Amino acid sequence: MSYQKIKGTLDFYQQEATKMRLIETKAKEILKTFGFEESITPIIEMTDVFIRSSGENSDIVNKEMYTFLDRGNRSITLRPEGTASIVRSFLENKLYINSPVTKLYYCGPMFRYERPQKGRYRQFMQFGIEVFGEESPFLDADVIISAYTLLSALGIKGIKLKINTIGDFASRVNYTAKLQSYFADKIDDFCEDCKQRLTKNPLRILDCKVDSEKDVVKRAPKIKDSLSDASLAHFIEVTTILSMMKIPYEVEDTLVRGLDYYTDTVFEFILDTNDDLQGLAICGGGRYADLVKNFGGPDISGIGYAFGLERIMMVMTNQNLFTDIDKKTDVFIISLDKESKRLGLEFANQLREEELVVEMDYKNYTLKQQFKLTEKLNPKFIIIIGEEERENNIFTIKDTQNNTQEKVKKENIVSYIKSKKQ
Ligand code: HAM
Repeated sequence: MSYQKIKGTLDFYQQEATKMRLIETKAKEILKTFGFEESITPIIEMTDVFIRSSGENSDIVNKEMYTFLDRGNRSITLRPEGTASIVRSFLENKLYINSPVTKLYYCGPMFRYERPQKGRYRQFMQFGIEVFGEESPFLDADVIISAYTLLSALGIKGIKLKINTIGDFASRVNYTAKLQSYFADKIDDFCEDCKQRLTKNPLRILDCKVDSEKDVVKRAPKIKDSLSDASLAHFIEVTTILSMMKIPYEVEDTLVRGLDYYTDTVFEFILDTNDDLQGLAICGGGRYADLVKNFGGPDISGIGYAFGLERIMMVMTNQNLFTDIDKKTDVFIISLDKESKRLGLEFANQLREEELVVEMDYKNYTLKQQFKLTEKLNPKFIIIIGEEERENNIFTIKDTQNNTQEKVKKENIVSYIKSKKQ
């Protein structure tokens, strides 16, 4: 019987896995300079954690969650996103007691039962951040800057930042009423989802995958005309700082995001490259002033975003940004008899302590067989150990880049290699 991976999932191996980890490492390095620390939470949570956060009417909760009963009859869900888990953990561990502002990053697999297609999977990796405890628009700007810094550090070109505000609670009550009355006599021509949305969350009509391109949607009332003074001032400050920092952005007044917890600033980084990846969302986020409170915690505002790592990988591969990740072998050790193999293995591990990448042959005893193995690995140096070398403690070393061969005392080999290695 042969097994295949589950639809919508991916295997990462060798170079592909290296690429994924490279992005993760870079992200961690950059987020650390912004004062972030890591948070690792379980992949499974009680289902209510997601219903309460993403919203009962969101697509994620309605259609996309991997939910099951465990053997104790509890409803458990594989996390579809990171924010809810981090909020749960932030509250459960009372992180707000230790400092007024908490900055966390996380990285790991998320699960959504979506229709798989290029860049959309049922298991995918997110790298995300969440910040709790500060409402200032300066923080919104700094959070967006951190995402922009990361994308720039990865060398990704053709990025577009789309930003909007969906206002605070008061602004949205006002706006929701305006949308409901605007769409009331038009909704018959809309999809079934939008019909539901009209009463439950009319903002989502604006970014419906089916209906959002309709003229009637484009002519709908705009959030900016319903904003409270505080929300308007907040948004102006965020965009002023982005302009000051020369971060290109576009205000998109139909951007509302697919999760129900957002308030005020929402944003996405999409690809604007006029190729087959045009429009791909590689990062999404925003502020959520009420989520912690809705979880039963104190009145603490949060903001965050998440990158889809497979999508970043796709873009970077497309843009040829993964250079220099070929597997590199510094040294290959050839040994010509059993005793030499033992010595070779011991010596390989001494060299590895010097952070050299060392491989050896474990099986063969002839030069020819072992040289064959070096063809694929293409090591910078080949060390040959036979009876004579063992007895004299002088090994033969071949420098494959300069095509030279010398006999070098065992204790001098590290300095010999280091002097030659570029
Ligand atoms: P999201 O927009 O649902 O937001 O996802 C963030 C990113 O994850 C997307 O921009 C995309 O790159 C990637 N992504 C989402 N779904 C898939 C999928 N099925 N396959 C591959 N990649 C995918 C959130 O998840 C929020 N929790 C972000 C956030 C954090 N907001 C505040 N804090």
